[in-house]
Amino acid sequence: MTIKLIIDTDPGIDDAMALFYAIADPEVDLLALTTVFGNVTTPQATRNALFLLETAAVNIPVAEGLSKPRELPTYPPSSHVHGAEGFGTLDVPTPQGKAVSETAPEFLVRMARAYKGELVLCPIGPLTNIAAAMDLDPEFCRNLKRMVIMGGSLRAGGNITPAAEANIYHDPHAADFVFSYGCNITLVGLDVTNRVICPRSYFAQLAEQSPKLGGLLHQMAEFYIDFYETVGKFNGCGMHDPSALVACAAPNLFVTEDHHLRVICSGERSGETVSDPNLSSEPVKVCVDVDIAAVKKKIFKNVAKLV
Ligand code: BDR
Ligand code: CA
Repeated sequence: MTIKLIIDTDPGIDDAMALFYAIADPEVDLLALTTVFGNVTTPQATRNALFLLETAAVNIPVAEGLSKPRELPTYPPSSHVHGAEGFGTLDVPTPQGKAVSETAPEFLVRMARAYKGELVLCPIGPLTNIAAAMDLDPEFCRNLKRMVIMGGSLRAGGNITPAAEANIYHDPHAADFVFSYGCNITLVGLDVTNRVICPRSYFAQLAEQSPKLGGLLHQMAEFYIDFYETVGKFNGCGMHDPSALVACAAPNLFVTEDHHLRVICSGERSGETVSDPNLSSEPVKVCVDVDIAAVKKKIFKNVAKLV
């Protein structure tokens, strides 16, 4: 059965990998993208999303999201990880298309109503737009089928600080609000995505099978893997966002535990996701184990089909 999907994204190298996987998987009916800051600024994220879609000849709407966190001042984009424009050393040409006139939160609220009970939302950036959609419509998350979030960490520590995963760190107040809201949430965090690691050879083989789009990912991955090496990780890059997309289409490849989650919003541990059994919120299904080989194979098999 195919799933109806919207991705909220800050493209971003692993966001590009996730998007091409979602485009290629016949089990995914990708309806739209919404954009957010994080790896890049929000205007760059919108431009990058449009560029990726046009390069893949996919015509779906892009709605531009908010450009500032819910409470914190704006945090600088992660250009040392993803490059100044978001895709390593790649120049990103100005796309032909434009974002729709609705903001991302407005668009998400409307789509969740239109596809009530059917829509899967996969945020792979900070959760700012999602929290704002909940502000606009208290029924927003109850209208979704599921939300599969790339972010956080239960036991694996952080990646942007020792305590925090980057997406949650960029807007901890939004993440805390989303976790407290009572949605059907699966969290695909560093506990699993740090283990889905692909070496340079994976992307080189992908480029052989899919010279244009696989080739683009190969070029971007070189920069991403160079960054991983600067932090002492020499076996490749973490497939964070693509793993979250696989969890939308194939939840059976992941093992989850139920946890009541909150997010620390200040101090040294800002952005840390904490399991707190005393909370009365709905439990979040936190991914704690993954069929690593199957996830890597599913991404490869699908992206390799793209011309
Ligand atoms: C997450 O942060 C970003 O750098 C990636 O795109 C991913 O969404 C990983 O922590
Ligand atoms: Ca991302």
